[in-house]
Parts: sequence; structure tokens; C-alpha cells
Amino acid sequence: MEQEDPEKIPNWKSDFPIQSKKASHVNRREFAKFLGLLSGALALSNGGIVIKAIAFPSKPLEGEHFVCHENDVPVGKMFQFSIEGNKVVPYMLIHLENTEWRAFEQKCTHLSCAVRYIDDTKRIECPCHHGYFDADTGEVLQGPPPRPLPQLEVVNKEGKIYVKEMKS
Ligand code: FES
Repeated sequence: MEQEDPEKIPNWKSDFPIQSKKASHVNRREFAKFLGLLSGALALSNGGIVIKAIAFPSKPLEGEHFVCHENDVPVGKMFQFSIEGNKVVPYMLIHLENTEWRAFEQKCTHLSCAVRYIDDTKRIECPCHHGYFDADTGEVLQGPPPRPLPQLEVVNKEGKIYVKEMKS
């Protein structure tokens, strides 16, 4: 390493003898430590999401809720709506065929990304980690989601679409 001429070194440098190359250098051990801490933090946050879902499962929906008129959602399209209870839950209504409707919670069962219906494939897709659900049943078809999408029962009353808790 190149030594500086002691005659040319300003006073402040001799008082604080830190070389800028050394100060900004991150060695392999420090980088590995940083990656380890980052992975630990990510694992903790994922664990927190799972624990929250287990400790505070969503409460069953009470009564029927009006969503829209059947003419508002053409065949092959989806309609987003939410129901307010002790918390606001996002749902999607899917018009599969003329008289076939489905309603699912719109939160992926993996890490809660918003899912969407893809009419070309007749599947529900989660764009975060490419999880796929059956648009008819909500079952997991592919990817990391651990559970099917929670489903609501759809009731069509003279052209008005309502949802209610699924009968078990
Ligand atoms: S959040 Fe949906 S697959 Fe990961």
C-alpha cells in the first residue's frame, strides 16, 4: 500500500488516521452477516403473518350482502367488492357462465397478495409467486399457496347478486 509523505499530511488527517478505502470496504464476513440478518428479518415477518392468520381467523359472515346487479358483470369478468365487519375483507365476484357465479376472498392464502380472475385460462392467479386457484372451487392448482381461497355462496334474487357465508 502506498504510504503518504508525513510532511504533506494535513493535521486533521494525522488526528483521524482512517483511510477512505478501508472505511468504505465491506469484507466478506460483514456482507454474510448482513445477509444473515436480512434473511432472519424476512423469516420473522413471514412467521408473523402465519401466526396472525392462525391466532385471528376471520369470523364467519353474518347475513346476506348485496354486491351488484347481474347486468353489471358480463360473463367472463370479475367484480371486486369488500365487506366491512370487524375488518374490511376484499372479495371478488366472478361471472363464470350465464347462471354460474362464484365469490372468493381476494387475498392469496400464501402471503396475502391480491389475486385476479383470468378468463382465458378460467383460473385465478396470484401474480406474486405464480400461485393458481381453480375458479370453480377455489382449490389450489399450482404454486405455494397452502390453502384454497375462502369462498362465499352467491345468491341471485331476480337479477340482484348477494353473497353469504358458505353452507358447510
Ligand atoms: S402471495 Fe400468492 S403465491 Fe405467494
